[in-house]
Amino acid sequence: MLHLNTLSRLLIACAVIVTGGLWATEPIVIAHRGASGYLPEHTLEAYALAYGMGADYIEQDLVLTKDGRFVALHDIHLEGTTDVETAFPDRKREDGRWYAVDFTLAEIKTLSVHERLGNRFPAGKAQFEVPTFEEAIELIQGLNKTLGRNVGIYPELKGVAFHRKAGFDVEAKVLEVLTRYGYTGADARVFVQCFEFDALERLRALKTELPLILLISNDKRQAGQRTEEGLASVAKIADGVGPSKSIIEKNPAFVSWAHDAGLAVHPYTIRTDDVPKKYTDSDGELAAFYTQYGVDGVFTDFPDRARAFLDGMKRP
Ligand code: G3P
Ligand code: CA
Repeated sequence: MLHLNTLSRLLIACAVIVTGGLWATEPIVIAHRGASGYLPEHTLEAYALAYGMGADYIEQDLVLTKDGRFVALHDIHLEGTTDVETAFPDRKREDGRWYAVDFTLAEIKTLSVHERLGNRFPAGKAQFEVPTFEEAIELIQGLNKTLGRNVGIYPELKGVAFHRKAGFDVEAKVLEVLTRYGYTGADARVFVQCFEFDALERLRALKTELPLILLISNDKRQAGQRTEEGLASVAKIADGVGPSKSIIEKNPAFVSWAHDAGLAVHPYTIRTDDVPKKYTDSDGELAAFYTQYGVDGVFTDFPDRARAFLDGMKRP
């Protein structure tokens, strides 16, 4: 839902008629965890490379530390992408996992980040850190100033219910950071994404007009949100949806249902190193999503490939 006054809504309605759709704008490239096909995910280095590769938006998955700071990590656990097991062997919980929320930011800053899969950048050999959300924003805003571009951020709130149980008001906290860095209003260069619909509802209850994206997986708990009626309901709160690619592959009408509801569609995740067998190469998959299915953007670990594909489409 776009939170606009009546005049704005009328103007947008005219634009829909003229352009053929509210989201009939240039498709975008979203760097998934930064340029994570090339560098360890969610590091400043991966964000900088994504920027240089021409991403329009750069994603940060966000979790909270014990002292209430957002850090960019895909998991609420640390062991998937850091050396926490060797650095803090005694700090695991009974379930054998090391939770970011059990560590202060100062402790997390001592960790070395490595690739989730692969060993191109072994822990300790190349020193990659877990960045704070603020560091990620400052990097991207700094590059925007240096290069005269307007690359956006695309934060995802991870484990909102989990963090709520730990005593944090995640939605209020993320709005505080975003406001501090100038991200306010419906035109801000940011999409706030979450799989948890009630988190988006809470963000709206806190009166934000920022663009919100509901992530939709194949989980049966989100079955209702994959229907035409469900998407119309989602549009009362969100500005777009981030579906798993397979939702669209199984049901291409999902895109037109979403567009008819006024929702942008940003599927995840296109990987040049993991192209589904039905496509001959990554460009084939990009063509299917951007051109055939008509999505408005894609999450990709290889933002250079998506940028090159879109630039190639523009050439006569
Ligand atoms: O946020 C879009 C996509 O990144 C969702 O999947 O697990 O990579 O965060 P995940
Ligand atoms: Ca994500």
